[in-house]
Amino acid sequence: MTPDDAFFALHRDLPREGPGQAEDVHWALYAAAVPEEARIADLACGPGADTRTLAKARPRARIEAVDRMAHFAAAARAATAPFGPRVTVRVGDMAQVSGPYDLIWCAGGLYFLGVTEGLRLWRGALASGGLVAFSEPCLPPRPSAAARAFWAGYPAVTGIGGIRERVAAAGYRVLGERMVIGAAFRDYYEPLARRIALLRPGAEPALAAVLDAAEAEIARWQAAPDDIAYALMVVAPE
Ligand SMILES: C[S@@+](CC[C@H](N)C(=O)[O-])C[C@H]1O[C@@H](n2cnc3c(N)ncnc32)[C@H](O)[C@@H]1O
Repeated sequence: MTPDDAFFALHRDLPREGPGQAEDVHWALYAAAVPEEARIADLACGPGADTRTLAKARPRARIEAVDRMAHFAAAARAATAPFGPRVTVRVGDMAQVSGPYDLIWCAGGLYFLGVTEGLRLWRGALASGGLVAFSEPCLPPRPSAAARAFWAGYPAVTGIGGIRERVAAAGYRVLGERMVIGAAFRDYYEPLARRIALLRPGAEPALAAVLDAAEAEIARWQAAPDDIAYALMVVAPE
């Protein structure tokens, strides 16, 4: 089994690939005053949980979902098939989107590009009046050692002030922000923990290594669930 096979044995068909809940999507649609017939992108869509929520919440919108991993794009395509051709899903690079979009939604994906770099890239894909909603790892004002340990693999992590600075450096202003915390992480980690338990008996070394890493991540979250968060930001180009 290759490391990629092991990764997808663990992640295949999970409902989502990062923390988040439908109410986060609803909040952003409201904060961004997204019109009924909007053109919306779900970039780094993963298996499409938020794509579905966007499609349900805006029944007349056209939605384009993009993920670079074919497995996730296939899952998102299956999850959104009931919405018909107004929702499309493709394998692609979120750094290369042309729009125009009234809303770019990106849950737990912008850090792959960098907040400032990604927002700069997306400016040209926004329609007039278009907005971006994204979630980004966020340290609390006085981070515990457990919170720092959780984000050790992401040295660019900052508090909310640092995220605002990165938004401003891209030439955007913040219209709204809220924390993604607690239940939003639980909704990601509980299905993952169940899958680990299912795959653990007799797991070969490559798979066991992937299961160990995921289990350790869950344990790091359980050590400080009130301290580990994403900031969800709605931002507009200046
Ligand atoms: C943490 S997951 C979040 C997925 C989804 N938004 C969710 O909340 O379930 C990050 C996703 O970003 C995708 N990704 C990373 N870099 C990308 C890129 N350059 N273009 C498109 N997708 C990318 C990964 O394949 C993965 O599905």
